[in-house]
Amino acid sequence: MKLAVLAERAPETRVAAIPETVRKYVALGATVAVEEGAGIAASVPDAAFAEAGAELAARSAAVAGADIILAVGPPDPASLAGAKPGALLVGALDPVRRADLIAAYRSAGLEPLALERMPRITRAQSMDILSSQANLAGYKAVVDAAAAFRRVLPMMMTAAGTIGPARLFVMGVGVAGLQAIATGRRLGAQVSATDVRSATREQILSLGAKPIFVEGVAGIEGEGQGGYASETSAEYQAAQAELVSAHIAKQDIVVTTALIPGRPAPRLVSDAQLASMRPGSVVVDLAAEAGGNVEGVVAGETVERHGVTLIGAVQLARSLAADASGLYARNLANFLTAFWDKDSGALKLPDDDEIVAALRIPAAS
Ligand code: NAI
Repeated sequence: MKLAVLAERAPETRVAAIPETVRKYVALGATVAVEEGAGIAASVPDAAFAEAGAELAARSAAVAGADIILAVGPPDPASLAGAKPGALLVGALDPVRRADLIAAYRSAGLEPLALERMPRITRAQSMDILSSQANLAGYKAVVDAAAAFRRVLPMMMTAAGTIGPARLFVMGVGVAGLQAIATGRRLGAQVSATDVRSATREQILSLGAKPIFVEGVAGIEGEGQGGYASETSAEYQAAQAELVSAHIAKQDIVVTTALIPGRPAPRLVSDAQLASMRPGSVVVDLAAEAGGNVEGVVAGETVERHGVTLIGAVQLARSLAADASGLYARNLANFLTAFWDKDSGALKLPDDDEIVAALRIPAAS
């Protein structure tokens, strides 16, 4: 089997394979062609891929005769000519927003597999790109907030006086939120956090942060399918807004991460709540691309509102391209090796497998 690893186009910085995973594929008997320059932005020189056993080639030569094309973002369909008929294209193909590209891959005779559709089951945990990248984004959100904050995070007792610890509030305690809490704690901030899923209360406490939860409102549990959140009632939203208003005015840094699959991001911080924060406070909205948790957020930009720095974070994992590529590449290798048939030396994707079925994109989307 021939695997082709594409060089991504800006603003993407990550790469879908690293030398370690190339070695794995070679050990499985595959040939690996890496597009020249594919790893540069992730600090992997071509020579490191070559040393791992890959051939380096221009895109057309890398893709020629490929059985499987490995990508991060959705590539230009026209650049994939020459792959074997029925070749797999595996990546974070964004099928919801780029249905046009999915259709184009199919008409070019490729079978697209969208890695972001990986089911959240135990067997697939090591293949879950949303988790591996969200974890890094949660870390980077706090690091970016600290860089934009004109004060320090830890308490400092010095001969010139004492600086109090910064207060960090994390809204949405999924994968990114948990890492934001942990990072804030490591940097010495006083951390509190909230979520609609009550299961997160224990997780917040176990990380040494303070849970901030709406209490006593009937039917509030925003627990949806597959461990994800669902939309909350109007009554819950009102109680949450009141609770947040009282709390947020005392915070220095807020990191929001709340997402509901298939829906716009829930609005958690209003303009008035932002205005109640102290000048110099920093808010990082990790849901900016999905419409934002914070009123007035601009995806991909940093704006000042009422003296507060509001960062519309987009794809933060891209700014940690080396580690982000490492985790992404391993997620992808874990998926491919799990379905590798050693006897025939080929990938076998059974139609009735839960993972395979999930990654295949329904024709309508
Ligand atoms: P996500 O990125 O979809 O959402 C982030 C967080 O925002 C979630 O915790 C969600 O409950 C919260 N949220 C949504 N609406 C909110 C609101 N109105 N107010 C406050 N918070 C709100 O979530 P993520 O990080 O993808 O994780 C979702 C769940 O999936 C978690 O329970 C996680 O532990 C679980 N998971 C399971 C895996 C597996 O079994 N393989 C792998 C990764 C995650």
